[in-house]
Amino acid sequence: MADIQNSSFCSCNPLELFEQVTAQGEKVRSLKAEKAPKDEIEAAVKLLLSLKLSYKTSTGQEYKAGSPPTDFTPVSNGPGDAQDEDFVDPWTVQTSNAKGVDYDKLIVRFGSSKIDKDLINRIERVTGQKPHHFLRRGIFFSHRDMHQILDAYENKKPFYLYTGRGPSSEALHVGHLIPFIFTKWLQEVFNVPLVIQLTDDEKYLWKDLTIEKAYQYTIENVKDIIACGFDVNKTFIFSDLDYLGSSPEFYKNIIKVQKHVTFNQVKGIFGFTDSDCIGKISFPAIQAAPSFCTSFPQIFNNRKDVQCLIPCAIDQDPYFRMTRDVAPRIGYAKPALMHSVFFPALQGAQTKMSASDPNSSIFLTDTPKQIKTKINKHAFSGGKDTVEEHRKYGGNCDVDVSYMYLTFFLEDDDKLEQIKQAYTSGALLTGELKKALIETLQPLIATHQQRRKQVTSEMVKEFMTPRKLAFDY
Ligand code: TYM
Repeated sequence: MADIQNSSFCSCNPLELFEQVTAQGEKVRSLKAEKAPKDEIEAAVKLLLSLKLSYKTSTGQEYKAGSPPTDFTPVSNGPGDAQDEDFVDPWTVQTSNAKGVDYDKLIVRFGSSKIDKDLINRIERVTGQKPHHFLRRGIFFSHRDMHQILDAYENKKPFYLYTGRGPSSEALHVGHLIPFIFTKWLQEVFNVPLVIQLTDDEKYLWKDLTIEKAYQYTIENVKDIIACGFDVNKTFIFSDLDYLGSSPEFYKNIIKVQKHVTFNQVKGIFGFTDSDCIGKISFPAIQAAPSFCTSFPQIFNNRKDVQCLIPCAIDQDPYFRMTRDVAPRIGYAKPALMHSVFFPALQGAQTKMSASDPNSSIFLTDTPKQIKTKINKHAFSGGKDTVEEHRKYGGNCDVDVSYMYLTFFLEDDDKLEQIKQAYTSGALLTGELKKALIETLQPLIATHQQRRKQVTSEMVKEFMTPRKLAFDY
């Protein structure tokens, strides 16, 4: 019989623990059925109780036979991972593969579902709109409960969108546009309210920033978000530093979440350690709370049953795995999610474009010349070393960052396919591929800058004022 003190179950993930409790329960039952010696049964029962206790500590829930933990699906991001495993959490994205993260494996590890052809067809059927190229090209590739959202929509039941930004820098980079462009499309095709959270509190806690600076970044970032073209009558943008103090309902939801998640759980999900400040440890509840419509009584008229859909890159999923686990325990529906892949760093798809590393990024404030220089100098190429070799063997689009960027921003499917064929065959050289990207990004960023210039302080104030939106509940 295993010695409880020496057994290693305490370090298991919730699913493994669940399986251990189930197996031990069966063992106790068969020992009793066999009328085994009393001390053997007692030892087995003792181990069973300890396993149940570990399960409760790890998940915050009582063990229930036949109901495995759903949203604390094992996520092996820790140091014990196999060397070739990708690492993805809200702060770090790292893989050794030049093609980028293995997203199919990530779906399995995170326990989400693939956005497959059936789902895309259903979105097209339900909305009557051609699916966005982010869907057609697998850029939004994973989801949770999207069919539930579509069922609700077909039955004329409301839902709302929630997304966000952590204002860590004055300027957004082009990768940040991905969730906002897609959210705008979703808002337009489904005609639903949207809330956008600016987690200036998060950035104050994590970065070397004053509260004032974090708030100033919020305002600058909000201008970029507004410049994406959101409808002021359907969109509420809020800073945590502002809204938390002014909305008792939001705060109530935050503490409900805080009461139902243990320190052990956030350690497991986010990798917090004993030396992290308590602000970080309790922060995930603040990102969770906008997933519940009661956080916005001014918009939803105190209704409790409006489900939430969160578009984001998959780095944010840990927050929402936690949220989905807590939701039913505090009387709310689980938020649904749509996840995007990462817009890669200029240096290669081994990591995501990140505002914390300026060399990896093209910012929305860059001039046409800066864009050209960055791409020509830093964009990792899948081309061959010499023109002769390139003509003979062709380039590799799977690892070429310029080609990857075009898949995000060149909307014309035929033109993208032509570029792929020409580059793969060697007819198109790296310099020419980079030129195609520069010519796509320069006008896109210039147009964004034009729209941003037109965003006034009054507009920022209007978007950020808690108010009823153009929907009746
Ligand atoms: P932040 O500011 O890191 O990122 C904002 C949004 O951009 C996505 N993102 C990317 N998408 C594609 N490629 C990239 N290289 C890339 N880098 C970032 C993020 O996934 C996110 O959707 N804590 C959050 C703010 C937040 C939030 C939310 C985000 C609060 N509530 C709800 C999404 C949904 C943050 O710091 O995001």
